[in-house]
Formats: sequence, structure tokens, C-alpha cells
Amino acid sequence: TSGKTLRVAVIPGDGIGQEVMPEGIACLKAAAKRYDIDIQLDEKFQDWATCDRYVKEGSMLPENWKETLQQYDSIYFGAVGDPARVPDHISLWGSLIQFRREFDQYISLRPCRLMPGIKCPLADKKVGDIDFWVVRENTEGEYSSIGGKMFPGTDREFVVQDTIMTRHGVDRVLKYAFDLAQKRPRKKLTSATKSNGISISMPYWDERVKEMHQQYPDVEVDKYHIDILTAFFVLRPEAFDVVVGSNLFGDILSDLGPACTGSIGVAPSGNINPEGRFPSLFEPVHGSAPDIAGKGIANPIGAIWAGQMMLMHYGYKEAADKMMEAIEVALEKGGPNVITPDLGGKGDCAGLGGHIAKLIETL
Ligand code: NAI
Ligand code: MG
Repeated sequence: TSGKTLRVAVIPGDGIGQEVMPEGIACLKAAAKRYDIDIQLDEKFQDWATCDRYVKEGSMLPENWKETLQQYDSIYFGAVGDPARVPDHISLWGSLIQFRREFDQYISLRPCRLMPGIKCPLADKKVGDIDFWVVRENTEGEYSSIGGKMFPGTDREFVVQDTIMTRHGVDRVLKYAFDLAQKRPRKKLTSATKSNGISISMPYWDERVKEMHQQYPDVEVDKYHIDILTAFFVLRPEAFDVVVGSNLFGDILSDLGPACTGSIGVAPSGNINPEGRFPSLFEPVHGSAPDIAGKGIANPIGAIWAGQMMLMHYGYKEAADKMMEAIEVALEKGGPNVITPDLGGKGDCAGLGGHIAKLIETL
């Protein structure tokens, strides 16, 4: 071990967040035990980021949330939302979006990886064919609040919303993506652009990619306009290793990529502040799934894989690799009594979670 304690705030949130997170925790504990990782999983945040709390107290989080969470290395997050009781923009903006913004989690990271036992929505793909990462810029770009509306309700009415690309903001996401590509066997980076149509900001993005590439001569770089790039995600996903995009392009790609590999219940995501000035957040991609909440049949793999990403991020590679192996073996060989209904099985959340935790201990 590194001798350092990894301090994690666990925030399960709403709906199936409460069901999948205990499984994620059990798997992290199994990995920590086997690999002697000093990890502290603080579970005192049970009602944080819940609509229960909002209904009772009028806020998703206590006032001192930032000072409190800032003392942790990481946030392990379930899901938020209960649209029958609280509008989604209130629950989401009152919790998850606050974390992303205030903790400058400027990288959104998602694996796109075809797992065993999952029916790929793309024809004739097998395990190993699809295995890449989408790196999204998560703080600026197209999602800016610079702009306005004038002459509303008249025929002169117009709206303007400007894209912001700072050298600081572009370079830091590119650096993260190049670093990631450099650590992978293929060492390949694909940049999403649209410099043919968006003629000021996107050529600037391309220029920064070219400049950053000089520091990573061993990484192979290509770029595609976003329109054909989305087509290639579907037509030849084998071509990708690390794909980097601006906030808008990355948003689209980070939904499309995992969608090309199957179930929503399996996909994880990281919201990362790479320098560790603030905690990074790891979560399953799915939401609170009110339609199945309380039934105990949610797939816990999204949450478990998010925990795996967390260990990888903090440098516990051996443990993370074992967790990944356990997830894959469970999907491949767990059988219909273990696999959850979203993947065609008859198993349940606790059964699949316990099965994976056991594999982490014994494989
Ligand atoms: P959702 O991801 O919660 O559910 C979409 C569909 O996928 C549902 O049919 C659900 O049953 C299924 N599903 C999701 N996760 C599953 C799992 N682990 N195992 C088996 N099936 C699973 O998205 P939806 O329905 O659009 O949103 C529900 C609530 O979640 C809303 O309040 C929304 O705002 C919130 N949400 C929160 C997110 C977050 O916390 N990061 C992300 C997406 C939505
Ligand atoms: Mg999205």
C-alpha cells in the first residue's frame, strides 16, 4: 500500500442508488481487504442528495456541504431524482451539479467497453472489439451562460449564447486525454472537432491539440468532424482508444459510446479533478430508476464498476484490475440465477453484488 488513507464520502441518494451502493461498498471492501488498501468509506451521508431530505428540509444538501465534502479525497455517488415528488432540475441542480461545478470536476470520463454476456446493439461485435474511453470537457465550451435575449415578443427577437474556450480549459482536458492515451497499449487519441462549420472556436481546439501533441510524440492522433465521428462510433468502434471532445461534443459521445455497448445498468462514469485540489466523484451512469426502485432487482454493476474506476484513479491498479475481472467473470459465467432481469436473468441486486464481491476475494 501507499501508506495513505483514501477517504471516501459515500452518498447513495435516491431510488436504486440506495440499493446498488451497498453492493459497490461490499466490493470495494473485498478489494481493499485483499490488496491491503487503506480505504475509509464514510457512510454518514445517507440523506444527502435525496428528495426525502428536500421534502423535509427544503434543500438537497446541508449548508456546509462544501466544507464537509472537501475533506474527502473522493465522492462515491449513487443517483438522485424522484420526479413524482421533486422536479428533476431542483434535485439535480441542488446536488450533483453543485459537486461538479464547485469541485471543478473538469473531466468527465466514461469507458465504452463491450462486456461479456451483454447483447451488443451493434451487429457482429464480440468482446474485445469495443474498448475505448470518452473524455469530455466538463466546465466551459458550448455550455456557457454568456449571452442573452433581446426584443422578446417582437419580430426583432433574438438570442445569443457564446461558446467559451480558454487556453487553460482546453489544454487541461487535452493533457488529461493525452496522458490517458499514453498509458494505454494502443496509445491513440481521437479528437472530436467541427472546424469546417464552427470556424473560430473549433480551429482553435484543433490548434491546441496539435500543440499538445508535441509533448506526446509517441501518441498517435487523429481527428474527425463530430458528424462523421458519431457515425464511426456505430460503424467501426474498433477504431477508437481515447476520444476527447468539448463539452457539447463530449456530452453526445459519452452517451452514444456506452449505448453502443449495451445496458444502462452496467455503465460507470467519473467526474474528475485530476490535480486532487477537490474530491473527484465516481457514479453509475444510470439514474434513480423509480420504475424498479424498492424491488431489489437493480443491476449493481454500474455502481461496482464506478468503484473500480475510483480505485484505478487513485493508483490502486492491481485491485482495480481484479474488480474488473470479477465483473467480467460474473457477467460471463454467473448464469441466469445470478444475472439481473435487465440482462435477461432472474437474479437480484444483492445476489449479483455478493457474487462479484466473492469473486474479488477468490479469483
Ligand atoms: P434511469 O437511468 O433512472 O432509468 C432509465 C431506465 O433504465 C429505467 O427503465 C430503469 O429501470 C432502467 N435502469 C436504470 N438503471 C438500472 C439498473 N441499475 N438496473 C436495471 N435497470 C436500470 O433514467 P430516468 O428514468 O430518465 O430518470 C429517473 C430519475 O433519475 C430522474 O429523476 C432523473 O433526473 C434521475 N437521473 C439521475 C442521474 C444521476 O443521478 N446521475 C442520471 C440520470 C437520471
Ligand atoms: Mg448527457
